[in-house]
Amino acid sequence: MIIENYKRSYLAGLEVAERIASYIRKTQLENKHCVLGLATGSTPISVYQELVRMHKRENLSFENVYTFNLDEYCGLRKTHMESYYYFMFEHLFSYIDIPHKNIHIPDGKLRENDIHNYCLDYESQISELGGIDIQILGIGRNGHLGFNEPNCDMNSITRKIELTETTRIDATPSFGKLSCVPKHALTMGMQTILNARTIYFMAFGESKKQIVETAFTKNITEEVPASFLQSHPRCYICLDQYTNITEQ
Ligand code: GLP
Repeated sequence: MIIENYKRSYLAGLEVAERIASYIRKTQLENKHCVLGLATGSTPISVYQELVRMHKRENLSFENVYTFNLDEYCGLRKTHMESYYYFMFEHLFSYIDIPHKNIHIPDGKLRENDIHNYCLDYESQISELGGIDIQILGIGRNGHLGFNEPNCDMNSITRKIELTETTRIDATPSFGKLSCVPKHALTMGMQTILNARTIYFMAFGESKKQIVETAFTKNITEEVPASFLQSHPRCYICLDQYTNITEQ
C-alpha cells in the first residue's frame, strides 16, 4: 500500500479524479474499455464532482466506461433517496455521458430466491469485462469496506450480508430513525475488491482517524476488513490532515 497524505480532503478528491480521468483517456486512445468500481458515502463526492466538471469543461467522455458499484441496501427501491442507486445518479451518472447499459448497481429489491444467482451474475459480468481496473473505496467507522462488515472472509464474493449495529446507527441520521435503516445489504466481496488492479482508498476527517490507524498501522485481521488492503500491490491510501498517518 502507498500512503498519500493530503492537506485537505478535496485535494485528495481532485487528485484521484485526475488519475481516473488519465486512465479513461489512455484506454480511449487504445480503443479499449475500462471498468471502474464505485463507492457511495460522503467521502468520494469530491471525486465525482471533479469528474463531472472534467466532463463538462474538458471533454472527458465516459462512453467506454463500465461501472460496478460496491453495494446497495436491501429493500430500497431505486427511487428511494437513501438508495445507492439514487445517490449515484444524483452525484455522477445524471451528468455524464456513460451509456446506461454500462452502469451496474446491485439491485436492492430482488426476491430472496433470486439473490444468490444475481450475485454470481454480478461477479461474472465483472470478470467478462476483464475485471475492475480502478476501485474507489471509503471506510465505515468499524473498518468495513463496501458492506463487508468485521469478521468477513477475505475470499468472499458478492453476496447478501447482515448490517452491524454500528453501521446501522451511523446510517440513522440519513434515514431519520434506526428502525428505518435496512437490516441487510448486497455487497461486493472482499475478494472482488482485492482483485481490482488499482485501488484508491480515501478516508477523511476526525471521525475516521482511529479506524484508519487500526487498519493500516496494525496487523491484518478480519476484524478490520480494511486492513486486508495492506496486502494489495497497488492500493493508494489517500488521507487528509485529520486521518494522516505515517507508514510504520
Ligand atoms: C457506507 C458504505 C461504504 C462507505 C461508508 C462510509 O457504509 N457502504 O461504502 O465507505 O458508508 O461513508 P462516508 O464516506 O459517508 O463516511
